[in-house]
Amino acid sequence: MRPKVLVSRRLPPAALEIIARHCDVDHNEPNRPLPRAELLARLQGCRGLVCLLTDAVDDEVLGTPGLKIVSNVAVGFNNIDVEAATRRRVLATNTPGVLDDTTADLAFALLMATARRIVEADRFLRSGRWEGWDLLQFLGYDIHHKTLGICGLGRIGKGVARRAAGFDMRLLYTDVQRAPEAVERELGVTFAEKDALLREADFVTVHVPLFAETRHYIGDRELGLMKPTAILVNAARGPIVDEAALVQALQRKQIAGAGLDVYEEEPKVHPGLLGMDNVVILPHIASASIETRTRMATMAAENVVAGILGRRPPNLLNPEALSAQ
Ligand code: GLV
Repeated sequence: MRPKVLVSRRLPPAALEIIARHCDVDHNEPNRPLPRAELLARLQGCRGLVCLLTDAVDDEVLGTPGLKIVSNVAVGFNNIDVEAATRRRVLATNTPGVLDDTTADLAFALLMATARRIVEADRFLRSGRWEGWDLLQFLGYDIHHKTLGICGLGRIGKGVARRAAGFDMRLLYTDVQRAPEAVERELGVTFAEKDALLREADFVTVHVPLFAETRHYIGDRELGLMKPTAILVNAARGPIVDEAALVQALQRKQIAGAGLDVYEEEPKVHPGLLGMDNVVILPHIASASIETRTRMATMAAENVVAGILGRRPPNLLNPEALSAQ
């Protein structure tokens, strides 16, 4: 009997084909997240689950009898309880490496769109209110020669640093660990303690993973340290920024604006953000290029097939579970 895999949301055909070569696929094609009870029911009898970050893969899901592998179509895996997976000897995988540049592109696009008021100006023109060139209309902030603070110099943070170099920006970064000197030199980045970075940066962009320790990494206190002309960019994970504190800081003009791709309780967005012209808000599209989303899906497919066939999946998050299988 062929092993069965549940695919929790729609995937590109190329990825489905990879799975279908070896497994029977139960594909949740309608574009809606599976309600929890349905996810649990359809997972019965499955050896693998291909899921998105909208699926909460907790101890109960991982306890499905016979489940061998959970393959997330995302680099972030805060939706999976990896510790429980390891305990239950279920392999967990993600899709690292393929979306760094696409995400860095988007973070930089958010920075530029917010600083230069691009979305607001576009809305204005479409509304029919433009009466011609105006010297004082839609004045934004320069990007070139400004100071960019990168919080988290991982693959995506480094990608943002490379893009910023073309704008002759001064680059500060902060991280739990200082990068080797050669990396600092290559990227032209200078290490700063988090608070110093927040005080000095004209743009702050966060690229830390979401863990318990990074929840509200930017909160009331941090926003209070930032310049009143500063712009915050978050294309990482929503809970890294305290959204209510951000709304307050924007309302009090403690900072000048924000470019956001992610939210604390997606798909909900703090209502305070919706009416603000100085924020650009996107529906979590940082990795959404045709090439990258296709690559992510095929990687996830290759991961689930490898796990089911008893091979080591290329992007295994919990090798301890493999040795225990
Ligand atoms: C998307 O947010 C990802 O983590 O891949």
